[in-house]
Amino acid sequence: MPLGHYLLPCVVTRYAVVEELAGLGVTVHTCSRNEAQLNECLPEWKVKGFRVTGSICDVVSRTQREELMSTVSYMFNGKLNILINNVGTTKSKPTLEYTSEDFSYLISTNLESAYHMCQLAYPLLKASEAGSIVFVSSVAGVVAINTGGSIYSAAKGAVNQLAKNLVCEWAKDNIRSNSVAPWYIRTPLTDTYSNILAPSERFQPKREELHESR
Ligand SMILES: NC(=O)c1ccc[n+]([C@@H]2O[C@H](COP(=O)([O-])OP(=O)(O)OC[C@H]3O[C@@H](n4cnc5c(N)ncnc54)[C@H](OP(=O)(O)O)[C@@H]3O)[C@@H](O)[C@H]2O)c1
Repeated sequence: MPLGHYLLPCVVTRYAVVEELAGLGVTVHTCSRNEAQLNECLPEWKVKGFRVTGSICDVVSRTQREELMSTVSYMFNGKLNILINNVGTTKSKPTLEYTSEDFSYLISTNLESAYHMCQLAYPLLKASEAGSIVFVSSVAGVVAINTGGSIYSAAKGAVNQLAKNLVCEWAKDNIRSNSVAPWYIRTPLTDTYSNILAPSERFQPKREELHESR
């Protein structure tokens, strides 16, 4: 992995990704809506010798996304090697119970923000001459896992297709695009499934359902 500048919109997996990248000697800029948490992390990373900065940003806000990328452009002299679109959220409900507000919020957080971050990052990624975009998608965007998250799943499926399109469209600019699709990882995000799955089922794929949905 080349050393360079990284922007990581996200947090729990953010700790792991920030520390992995910063441990390799790269400069990372991350973001969070939680100022207190960010202010706790930044000095800890500094003590570890990591070069990590951070901004407060709610990626649902178009203006805040633009401000974030302006900050990154300023800090990294107009060049960015990797954009990691890690932000994600879900609300677990049967499809018929979702409201239009749920739909807007989940699509905005999981899909629109990543789409717009790519648009904003494009000139910086191109300027680096070795750009890479990583989308954190989900197995739920590939197969139906029946945990009451049809909007989340649709958004993650769209993220996968977005990644494929950018591969073709931006390869000429030396920008790679990849989508990572994790299975369950115990984080605050998976608490949302607790009302749907029994504890014994929560982190285990139902193999027959996966096969059926292919
Ligand atoms: N955990 C799993 O089982 C699993 C499986 C497949 C895919 N994923 C994907 O992995 C990624 C990371 O999720 P996670 O499991 O680490 O969950 P998490 O602990 O809930 O982390 C999600 C992070 O996204 C950030 N975020 C959410 N909405 C945001 C917003 N509007 N503006 C800015 N930041 C926002 C939050 O940061 P702040 O609260 O600090 O703002 C939060 O820390 C997500 O894309 C998720 O869909 C997770």
